[in-house]
Amino acid sequence: MASAMTESLTIRRPDDWHLHLRDGAMLEGVLPETARHFARAIIMPNLVPPVVRGDDAMAYRDRIMAALPDGMAFEPLMTLYLTEATDPADVAAAAASGLVKAVKLYPAGATTNSASGVKDFDKVRGVLEKMAEIGLPLCTHGEVTTPEVDIFDREAVFIDRVLDPIRKSTPGLRVVMEHITTKNGVDYVKSQDDMGATITTHHLVINRNHILVGGIKPHYYCLPVAKREEHRVALVEAATSGAGPFFLGTDSAPHIDALKEHACGCAGCFTATNTLSVLAEVFEKAGALDRLEAFTSLNGPAFYRLPVNDETVTLTKGGAVDYPAKIETGAGPVTVFDPGFPLHWSVA
Ligand code: DOR
Ligand code: ZN
Repeated sequence: MASAMTESLTIRRPDDWHLHLRDGAMLEGVLPETARHFARAIIMPNLVPPVVRGDDAMAYRDRIMAALPDGMAFEPLMTLYLTEATDPADVAAAAASGLVKAVKLYPAGATTNSASGVKDFDKVRGVLEKMAEIGLPLCTHGEVTTPEVDIFDREAVFIDRVLDPIRKSTPGLRVVMEHITTKNGVDYVKSQDDMGATITTHHLVINRNHILVGGIKPHYYCLPVAKREEHRVALVEAATSGAGPFFLGTDSAPHIDALKEHACGCAGCFTATNTLSVLAEVFEKAGALDRLEAFTSLNGPAFYRLPVNDETVTLTKGGAVDYPAKIETGAGPVTVFDPGFPLHWSVA
């Protein structure tokens, strides 16, 4: 007989609406970690060189599918990296073929491999107008990166200086504010029509103290950087509300340990491996396990106008679940995100 403590939760198979898979040996090492639990993912284009044109996206999709182990199913949803030279006709053709599901805006210099990002927004006006016309979403890395802006204020300043002006000047453009980290982001998204926001696993768990108190913790450093506790609480409220605009985008971003544990450590938390167990814990604590499916499996497809997945996954609650501390990849070891609390939900 099953123990009286055992509980289980069956949900539609989740998707990840913001994922970094990299390329080569790293791609091979991390792809199974996502494909084990997720049916689809929006694939970030910040490779070196970036995925800019439709042809680049097609070649990258082929490399991802070639790296997928036999017996695993996974659908990469490709994105293009917006540059000041992006051709609206190329974007439209890549979207019409079904290959590309979004275009990614990185302000120049905002984060890992963002040197080709946008400096002068007038130069991308034609692309944004074409995207509004065809209904192709713009995914934004929401940070202003000029040196006078404090790093903890970058998101709030982005909303005022970049996002709101884009929304007003390009009616009909469908925008996803990616990896929101502030109450300002939550409130802005709620105030808008037809706008989405992704929330990462790690921003539901850590605040800025986790990075800096008791010694610097490089594996908690990511961009946008985690903010004060009141912002984390606002993110948990948004995610666990089940409200349509908010959906999971893990921003799982692998870097080898040697580049994280470094005098100039890279930004990124690697959460692909244990995301579902961590989220179940967060949602249970909030009394919202019944809304986990909306966040992981329903709201994202609704925003992207894609069908929900037919398959399901079952989470079972029991004794402590152990995940490997590191994933060994051909590029080197990658540390798995440590939520700092025990996990009890495992994925069948
Ligand atoms: O922490 C991050 N890592 N934030 C990003 O925006 C990029 C990502 C990466 O590619 O490593
Ligand atoms: Zn990212």
